[in-house]
Amino acid sequence: MLEYSAIESRISSLLPQLEHEFTVKTPRSREVFEKSRRVLPGGVTYAIRYFKPYPLYIERAGGTRVWDVDGNEYVDYWMGHGTHILGHSPKIVTDSVREILSSGTHFGYENPYAVEYAELLARVVPGLEKIRFTNSGTEANMYTLRLARSFTKRKYVVKIEGGWHGGYDVLHTSVTPPFTGPESTGLPEEYLRYTLSIPYNDVEAAEEVLKRYPVAAVFVEPVLGAGGCVEPTGNYLRELRELTYRYGSLLVFDEVITGFRLAPGGGQEYFNVRADLVVLGKIIGGGFAGAGAFGGSSDVMELIDHLKYPDPRLRAFHGGTFVGNPVNMIAGYTLVKYLAENRSLYETANSLWSEFRRSIDKVCEEYGRICWSTGAGSMVGIHFTRLKPRNAREVYEHRWSKTVEHAYHLYSRLNGVLYISEKLVHLLPSLLHSRSEVELFKATFESFLTRILKS
Ligand SMILES: Cc1ncc(COP(=O)(O)O)c(C=O)c1O
Repeated sequence: MLEYSAIESRISSLLPQLEHEFTVKTPRSREVFEKSRRVLPGGVTYAIRYFKPYPLYIERAGGTRVWDVDGNEYVDYWMGHGTHILGHSPKIVTDSVREILSSGTHFGYENPYAVEYAELLARVVPGLEKIRFTNSGTEANMYTLRLARSFTKRKYVVKIEGGWHGGYDVLHTSVTPPFTGPESTGLPEEYLRYTLSIPYNDVEAAEEVLKRYPVAAVFVEPVLGAGGCVEPTGNYLRELRELTYRYGSLLVFDEVITGFRLAPGGGQEYFNVRADLVVLGKIIGGGFAGAGAFGGSSDVMELIDHLKYPDPRLRAFHGGTFVGNPVNMIAGYTLVKYLAENRSLYETANSLWSEFRRSIDKVCEEYGRICWSTGAGSMVGIHFTRLKPRNAREVYEHRWSKTVEHAYHLYSRLNGVLYISEKLVHLLPSLLHSRSEVELFKATFESFLTRILKS
């Protein structure tokens, strides 16, 4: 077994060659990047979509594949940030939307489609008696926190280190090391005065903070997503449930990734733990922009009800120009209905991806235990760490390399395998990825390990 430093130096000498191959394969992407830098900061619409030496510019997608501006085809293991659970542009969804497009894309009045969709979601998502739609997961988290504070009349909020709830001020902290302070400039420390963060999978830390502060809500992703696709260990979620009951705080499951992914009813159904409020996004929009919602029991949600609380100062605000627009409602309804009626898709995909995680671990074992897999259902994290991480802090602290994630991403791109990000291997595939696509990922991974360890 090579020392970590020896592997690192092999990677350093491999990188220029991989970058060269990449530039030969993607000249048009390079051109678009140069143009893009003049009008988009960093040449991208969102920093996490940037890859070194430049991002791929995708011009077409279908099923489990995407094609870049040079005509290269990739199997996509990222699927629109985890949105496209039935692949890119599933026909049932695009057909359903086509009809409404000629009747109006956005009425700006109430529409019956939102009501039907809300009814469907109330049947599919556990504990969801009432729901409101938002334009994004970020917004859904923002309104949920406001609602939780209104309901409990408390100010503090607890989030998980490495937990990502979008760019909303109060929750935009403790996402990356050192897991403290604002994650952005322009975000005064004062805004974070009531935000407390604790490590994932740590029940004692949760109890300590709940005992000490009047906490309105604990926000947790049932499976840590952007923090590395790390699964809950032991009875973590159940214990969080009990602790929040005991200390009078609301338990909020941010199911923006896990919702409709782990099961039709998301992490609540998959782990059989009920939250007080659930935050939804991504898949809920049926593949269209404007994907978000939050909901829970009527007694909490009624604090938004203007008929019960006509004075706006006595209720929790929620709204927005595009919320509940017919395109999102019809697309989301069609998709979620299909998912709820085809539960066997989950059994197949969840077992395929857990088999994949086991096989990645086996490969890692054979190659001197330089990597580990994490995740649940169709969420997969692969970590080049000394130990298997149980939380985001360990994802970063146990790393043995500064370059391996980037080198692996580059290597994958060259082999027709695509995911985000180049800093963290986490996959959010669709339920329709085939066994051979799973095998392709595994074969690419194994050949990369051979390249850095044995060649
Ligand atoms: C768990 C989680 N919550 C919230 C968000 C924010 O959602 P959006 O990007 O739609 O604002 C994300 C986005 O990736 C997420 O993964």
